[in-house]
Amino acid sequence: MPPLLLKAETVSLACKKILLGVTGGIAAYKAAELCRLLVKAGADVQVVMTAAAQQFVTPLTFQALSGKPVLTSLWDAASGDGMEHIHLSRNADLLLVAPASADFLARLAQGRADDALSTLCLARACKLAVAPAMNHEMWAAAPTRRNLERLHEDGVQVLGPAAGEQACGEVGLGRMLEPVDIMSAVSGLLGVGALAGKRVLVTAGPTFEPIDPVRGLTNLSSGKMGYAVARAAAEAGAEVCLVSGATCLAVPAGVRRIDVQSAADMHRTVLAELPCDVFIAVAAVADYRVDAAAAQKIKKTADGLTLRLIANPDILAEVAALPDAPFCVGFAAETEQLAEFAEAKRLRKKLPLLVGNLAQDTLGQDTAELVLFDNQGQHRLPRAGKLTQARNLIAHLANQLN
Ligand code: C5P
Repeated sequence: MPPLLLKAETVSLACKKILLGVTGGIAAYKAAELCRLLVKAGADVQVVMTAAAQQFVTPLTFQALSGKPVLTSLWDAASGDGMEHIHLSRNADLLLVAPASADFLARLAQGRADDALSTLCLARACKLAVAPAMNHEMWAAAPTRRNLERLHEDGVQVLGPAAGEQACGEVGLGRMLEPVDIMSAVSGLLGVGALAGKRVLVTAGPTFEPIDPVRGLTNLSSGKMGYAVARAAAEAGAEVCLVSGATCLAVPAGVRRIDVQSAADMHRTVLAELPCDVFIAVAAVADYRVDAAAAQKIKKTADGLTLRLIANPDILAEVAALPDAPFCVGFAAETEQLAEFAEAKRLRKKLPLLVGNLAQDTLGQDTAELVLFDNQGQHRLPRAGKLTQARNLIAHLANQLN
């Protein structure tokens, strides 16, 4: 059995110049970790802090982490010609504001220029990304919604936020993305990594096949593996579209998600999203659907109920058979005889790469043991977290693709 060729690559931001704006919120302490990760990845980082940010973390912390004095004011007489707010973004690759408070987003949406960071944003000549962080009610509030809409129109990339427990003790959407997730989005935005410039289409999660307006047939897929694959592809610099059945997972940073319900919806959506360079079908697509779903709720009778099922289109096989087919990757969850069934499936669907796993060891879990099947043979990936496995898979396929 040949060994796996590549270890998952870590993000390299060598030669990239990043302006890291920090605004006033408790998540400012996480920006210190983000700064460390950016520097560790090789980026040249210049930190700019608002006055409120300095109430949470001192500029000295960021100076120590970035190796450079932090810009905190427009009125610093020591800075050359006093035009730092213009010069700084001229040779930067990205201006990243993390955390971005509700107040800062409002100022950004209005085009205010009343401190060093907002002026830099207005005067910038590089991409701008913001990672919002605020209480969930502030995030949901109508003025914040309006500001976000305006920022989208202005081409500002919005990373997150994530859902979960907040510093105030409440639970909801508004936490800043974790620094590692922001790193993935940054590598995607900067087009670095083994899949830079590639368009990757991923399916994930279960499908739901309606029986009547309130019932349906589905399966136990959690979507965790598909979401991890989408995230790993974005980390590797790809433009990623994730076509997802119902899950309760957050969209990975930098990934565009399209929600679907049935296999027919997924089929239609995938075909509409082509062409792409790589198609990774992780979804647990129902093989059958109910022939004619009832328009009204089916009433209970003593006689039982017989449903006629008809075959769904095989999305992966159809895409793989296209004349200009992308590099197609399939998943095979088997309950027995993994090697024979998986390799037979790979050949039948004409796939360069198929990922096999034992369904009972994987479904709904956070870890997986995988075997990759390709023209060179089998490559075993011993049990590890699904994100680690997804990164290994992406590294392997990038190697084959290139
Ligand atoms: O044939 P089987 O369902 O076992 O194949 C599994 C692989 O095919 C997975 O990659 C799955 O996402 C994909 N598939 C599909 N459309 C179907 C059934 C499976 O894309 N209708």
